[in-house]
Amino acid sequence: MAALIRIEDVFVAYGTPPRAVLGGLDAGIELEIEEGSFVCLLGQTGCGKSTLLRLVLGSERPLRGRILIDGSEHPQPDRTRGYVPQKYSLFPDKTVLDNITFGPEVSEFGLLGRLTPKFFHRRRELRAEAHEYLRRIGLRESDAGKFPHQLSGGMQQRVAIAQALMTRPRILLMDEAFSALDPGTRRDMQQLVRELWRATATTILFVTHNTDEALRLGTRVVVLAKEDPETGSRVALDLTVPETCTDQEVAALVRRLERVSENLAREEDLERVTSS
Ligand SMILES: Nc1ncnc2c1ncn2[C@@H]1O[C@H](COP(=O)(O)OP(=O)(O)O)[C@@H](O)[C@H]1O
Ligand SMILES: [Mg+2]
Repeated sequence: MAALIRIEDVFVAYGTPPRAVLGGLDAGIELEIEEGSFVCLLGQTGCGKSTLLRLVLGSERPLRGRILIDGSEHPQPDRTRGYVPQKYSLFPDKTVLDNITFGPEVSEFGLLGRLTPKFFHRRRELRAEAHEYLRRIGLRESDAGKFPHQLSGGMQQRVAIAQALMTRPRILLMDEAFSALDPGTRRDMQQLVRELWRATATTILFVTHNTDEALRLGTRVVVLAKEDPETGSRVALDLTVPETCTDQEVAALVRRLERVSENLAREEDLERVTSS
């Protein structure tokens, strides 16, 4: 089966003189992501995780290489991909319900289209769907009319997830989406996103710099790291997460991953971890 996302020979550099962030002049980043997988992208701050996510989203292009979604390039963001950033993705002047329905309304109807009966009919459908999503993400009916500032950070992120899922994207991109939340809320959100992933079969690419989170969420963990200061980050480790992991096993994996991520691993360590 062909991969849903193919990252081919991708090289990104910023600044003058250019400083490599992802890949090198000799070889770029290569990565294939299967449909339905939950891939956590792990690495230290500044290693290029958000950049890679923006490339997959289509809001940025690489200097070299290409990103294929289901076999073709999608150089602009579109409905194939939903995106949830760390925070501030909601419109502050729109209610929860309007935040959730806004994306599909805009993508399906132009300004004039919004004056037609068809629009009002569709809007009723979208509102019904939005209420269904509200329920699934654990908000109450009475939250539908609230504004973002009336919600806690965790609730806002729940709405942001519903907003991203409303267009039924095949791919959901999440960038440190839970990093601003307190540990208890974070755990709840992790559980929620695992449940949504199972229920919707969406392919998820989840950026985090929290190793424990990556192992608890992902079916696969990809570590980005710089091997030397002159080049950009590469895939330093690509690990399939065992289906069931005891807390002890998770702790052992966390230690190994952190070693790789911190660039402390010697070549032979890398091989050992990769092949296990
Ligand atoms: N648009 C940009 N212009 C210049 N430098 C950038 C830009 N975006 C990111 N960078 C730099 O690229 C590096 C990787 O950034 P980023 O992808 O945000 O890392 P991460 O998400 O892993 O913390 C950082 O050094 C950052 O400062
Ligand atoms: Mg980032």
